[in-house]
Amino acid sequence: MNLFNVYPLYDVTPVRALGCHVWDENNVKYLDLYGGHGVISIGHTHPDYVAGLTDQLNKIGFYSNSVQNPLQKELAEKLGKISGCDDYDLFLCNSGAEANENALKLASFKTGKKRVISFSNSFHGRTSAAVAATDNPKINAPLNLQQEVTFLPLNQIGPLKKELKKGDVCAVIIEGIQGVGGLDQGSTEFFKDLEKLCNENEVILILDEIQSGYGRSGKFFAFQHHGIHPDIITIAKGMGNGFPIGGVLISDKIKAEYGMLGTTFGGNHLACAAAICVLDVLKKENLIDHVNIVSAYFLERIKEIPQVKKVKGKGLMLGVEFDFEVAGIRKKMIFDKHIFTGGAANKNLLRILPPLSVTKKDIDVFVDALKEVLSTE
Ligand SMILES: Cc1ncc(COP(=O)(O)O)c(C=O)c1O
Repeated sequence: MNLFNVYPLYDVTPVRALGCHVWDENNVKYLDLYGGHGVISIGHTHPDYVAGLTDQLNKIGFYSNSVQNPLQKELAEKLGKISGCDDYDLFLCNSGAEANENALKLASFKTGKKRVISFSNSFHGRTSAAVAATDNPKINAPLNLQQEVTFLPLNQIGPLKKELKKGDVCAVIIEGIQGVGGLDQGSTEFFKDLEKLCNENEVILILDEIQSGYGRSGKFFAFQHHGIHPDIITIAKGMGNGFPIGGVLISDKIKAEYGMLGTTFGGNHLACAAAICVLDVLKKENLIDHVNIVSAYFLERIKEIPQVKKVKGKGLMLGVEFDFEVAGIRKKMIFDKHIFTGGAANKNLLRILPPLSVTKKDIDVFVDALKEVLSTE
């Protein structure tokens, strides 16, 4: 059987990893400033994580959501404490798209309405409503177009006001910082106005923190830079440090009812063990403080490169923008310098999403390598 060929692959085969590095089958070492697509939060194969998962696997790996699972409660409690969001309830699922799908469904249940507002360049996943709320017609099949979604420009409150007044909108969904689209973000003024307008019009505000959450922005959630209180927050990626898990944080505006949401695998024992280890290590190693220190260092050092036009994003969710396309540079960084970086819909942007434990020394290696690659362009 062949694999369904949907991914253009780099010819690199990582076979093991530790911290911020991966090794290929020829034992070549790579610096990982891509974090496996913003997924690796506490570092690859962190010893506490390996021990926690191994221990759990030796006890019980899975049972269904029809019985008690104290690990879910432990996870919810720890997540509430570390994120400062202990006034939300938690629903556990398996991926980012699934988290957004459930969030949109909850908004529609609550309001009895079905139109969604999303933003230009947004990415929210590839399932039914999540992909419909994603600003990319290429990945929307005709089936997905039955969803009613209106895309509006980021940071313009006028069009938003006009659309919400129509009275048929269930949710506004917005990324804390745009990931796939290219690291653009709402201003504090915009987020505050958005929150106010949603409250006035009884529309559910969903903050997609799937990429920007879990400390990546320098606060636990990126929206916390703006002092707002969303109705729903969605999480995934960094939550399991590679173990598939997602979640929906739900404010007390929405009351749970039996059967409203459900999943076979969501919140299973192994997934919870992984997510608990992540939170324990984030706390133990003060990783969010570390993100801010290394981010400031990155921003200083990157100034040494005159070809860099702008650095977008926050914390360790950064986009280094040039006035030319970077596909060739990304390739050279991998194959000549053995450094992984990410791309974005904005083809002039190198996306930097390292494990949150990345060091200043790693940043030195990156900046020096990028200078050399640019000098050969
Ligand atoms: C902001 C955002 N939302 C949703 C998703 C979808 O997550 P998943 O691929 O786990 O379904 C992604 C994935 O890149 C994302 O960056």
